[in-house]
Amino acid sequence: MNSKLFFLLSGNHPTLPAAEVLAILEAEKLGYDKVSTNPKILTLNANPKCLQLVKKRAGMCEVAGNLIFQCENSEEQIINKIKQVDFSEYVDSESTFSVRVSKLFGSSEHINKMHLERELGRIIESALPLTKVDLKNPYKQFIGISYMDHFFFGLKKISCKTNSLKLRTPKLRPELHPSTIDPLLARCFVNLSRAKADEILLDPFCGVGGILIEGGLLGCQVVGSDRDYVMINKANTNLKHYDVNGASLLIADSRMCPYENVNSIATDPPYGRGSSTMGIRPQKLMKEFFIEVNRILSRDGHLCIASPINVNIKNIGLDSGLNIIESHVMRVHKSLVRELVVFNKK
Ligand SMILES: C[S@@+](CC[C@H](N)C(=O)[O-])C[C@H]1O[C@@H](n2cnc3c(N)ncnc32)[C@H](O)[C@@H]1O
Repeated sequence: MNSKLFFLLSGNHPTLPAAEVLAILEAEKLGYDKVSTNPKILTLNANPKCLQLVKKRAGMCEVAGNLIFQCENSEEQIINKIKQVDFSEYVDSESTFSVRVSKLFGSSEHINKMHLERELGRIIESALPLTKVDLKNPYKQFIGISYMDHFFFGLKKISCKTNSLKLRTPKLRPELHPSTIDPLLARCFVNLSRAKADEILLDPFCGVGGILIEGGLLGCQVVGSDRDYVMINKANTNLKHYDVNGASLLIADSRMCPYENVNSIATDPPYGRGSSTMGIRPQKLMKEFFIEVNRILSRDGHLCIASPINVNIKNIGLDSGLNIIESHVMRVHKSLVRELVVFNKK
């Protein structure tokens, strides 16, 4: 049965963290509706079993759980709302709980965090007299999030431990290349391609394997190719280092891929700065690559790809017959704006 859920996002991009959570639900064929989002909070209706999948897969979600209520960001409104909640649905009798309030981006100066936490705890205790506040080791954790004009109150169900992503930062890998992407973004590419555990995930410009490592650690059957054999050797070393076994790696030009019927492609092609296009204009390379994608992608399959905005992969993809599902702009520095686009094939 569906419930109202909240996801506290990392906020390290205005749209990617929410898109990543939604893509995970779609990859796992879990329906959702009533989506509302801003850069820090996503709320929707879905089956709560999706929370464990988000915990396992997402790189840009911090905490998630049941949304109990949402209201205007004023103490009066918050207190009014909390008094209407039937807390016996959330805390067992004689159990313990805590209430923590977060004020995001230093917003909500009018909210006194400690005072509000105490007040909300007192109201819950008086509604369920056999329960007790325990700040050190609570059985249930309520969380209040004060963000701009809104206040969200929920029961925390998962905390996404994304520290392991930092252990795979490029400089800690045995083989390095300046063009590789960091694990957080690589993980996001994999999720946006709607890849699933045990299914094939292809990166046809795999470089030293940044995307393949994340896909492999999520349980995908990873397949990578690159025109440069040095990159393939390095990708092999990196994948072994992170215990990604069973990956298929081959030397191949992405415009002549020896595959077909692939469900998920996640890739970061070269654009002639950090990594070479081997003398081919980026637009020409992309046009020829997209013709090949249209051939190898299965019906309903997804491609997640990034490129400098001036290459205009949106138009190139549309011309090749694919559909655009979503796009996200990433400002890397003054002279480089990239666009991450997800396509599918109908
Ligand atoms: C931006 S890098 C990929 C980085 C990779 N995502 C990573 O994390 O290491 C692009 C790669 O495309 C490869 N490449 C360039 N032209 C190619 C082509 N026509 N077919 C296949 N690979 C190509 C380059 O050798 C380079 O390794």
